[in-house]
Amino acid sequence: MRVLVIGGGGREHALAWALDRSTSVTEVVCAPGNAGIAQVATIRDVVATDPDAVVTLAQGVLADLVVVGPEAPLVAGVVDALAAAGVPAFGPTRAAAQLEGSKTFAKRVMAAAGVPTAGYWSGTDPDQAKAELANHAPPYVIKADGLAAGKGVRICADRADAEEAIDDALVRGVFGAAGASLVIEEFLDGPECSLFGLSDGTTVVPLQPAQDFKRALDGDQGLNTGGMGAYSPVPAVDPATVEDLRRTVLQPVIDQMAADGTPFAGVLYAGLALTAEGPKVIEFNARFGDPETQVVLPRLTSDLGQVLMACATGTLAELAPLTFADQACVAVVMASGGYPGAYETGRVIEGLDAATSDQVTVFHAGTRDESGQVVTAGGRVLAVSATGPDIAAARSSAYQAIESITFEGAHTRSDIAAAPTT
Ligand code: AMP
Ligand code: GLY
Repeated sequence: MRVLVIGGGGREHALAWALDRSTSVTEVVCAPGNAGIAQVATIRDVVATDPDAVVTLAQGVLADLVVVGPEAPLVAGVVDALAAAGVPAFGPTRAAAQLEGSKTFAKRVMAAAGVPTAGYWSGTDPDQAKAELANHAPPYVIKADGLAAGKGVRICADRADAEEAIDDALVRGVFGAAGASLVIEEFLDGPECSLFGLSDGTTVVPLQPAQDFKRALDGDQGLNTGGMGAYSPVPAVDPATVEDLRRTVLQPVIDQMAADGTPFAGVLYAGLALTAEGPKVIEFNARFGDPETQVVLPRLTSDLGQVLMACATGTLAELAPLTFADQACVAVVMASGGYPGAYETGRVIEGLDAATSDQVTVFHAGTRDESGQVVTAGGRVLAVSATGPDIAAARSSAYQAIESITFEGAHTRSDIAAAPTT
């Protein structure tokens, strides 16, 4: 079959790469893509958030399946438009994508489904929000309700800082419409873990867990980023725990969404905190994580094309259980100097071929081809992903590969997967 992937980051490179290796897939097309994705897919241009444009492209390339990578096209209704046009699509509808698009919506679903999460308050009035702080203990967690590109969460050490965060969102409007409504929630203490559940709206099948490193600098210092590296599996989340999480988190949410008339098909990404009281949900996303996808898919030995098609067509229960290589995978992100703040682009990247081997794949996040040279084109530039017999071996291969890649101002964390959560 012919698969069209929508998006152009590291996650979409990993998706296109894994689809290209799938026996069921004869051709991968990606729009808008990037310089790395061009090695495994035909690149086309599209405005990913324009549902009509995506439908026209899907029909034009005779796509048998469309896989939507990022959240913005999902929330814009790209999957709804494809469904209306009769094109099978992997990803939730606009209504179901509210699980990521609105934190209040997600909290209501979790409450109805009995899924463990942080206690919360939500509202739009700054005075009420400040009064609500009395019901919480520091550190205070203040979140913009809507999509704020990962920047909508403030963890505040004291009351003054929390009131400032409330005013920023509700009075000064620094998150725009995304921050017009606010969530204040209990602080969840413990290591984090990302678990992806693939669903057709009824059945849900977990992938293997991964851990992401969100802060910019070593030792989890610095600003929050989209993710500076990841590893899989997570020793603390063993197969029995994954099955518990399927039963207590993923399946109840899928059942609740179906019962509410907004069935969720696609990838349900649970961001979990492993607290002393057990795992609790920090948030849901309606898409694959980035860079977690770059460590989970290299371990998947099942045919990804077949699995995603089963999700898009409601036939997941008929599929054989997923299989994974008994290997670990570690990805280290190379970012532009300055990221997640201001950074420059257009820097020539050297050494990509030398870094690549049987164990190492360099997934491109923000790159473009400029007159035959690969140059930087984003904050996160590459995710250097390596497999190995265990996390330490995979980590060593990833960092060794990074030694051979250069671009001006490149920034990496040196402690990705240095101390896996056990
Ligand atoms: P989110 O956008 O909801 O994923 O939040 C981004 C990051 O903020 C999470 O990955 C956590 O590191 C942190 N965070 C969010 N909510 C909480 C919470 N209730 N307790 C502790 N940390 C949190
Ligand atoms: N790596 C975090 C995310 O994809 O949201």
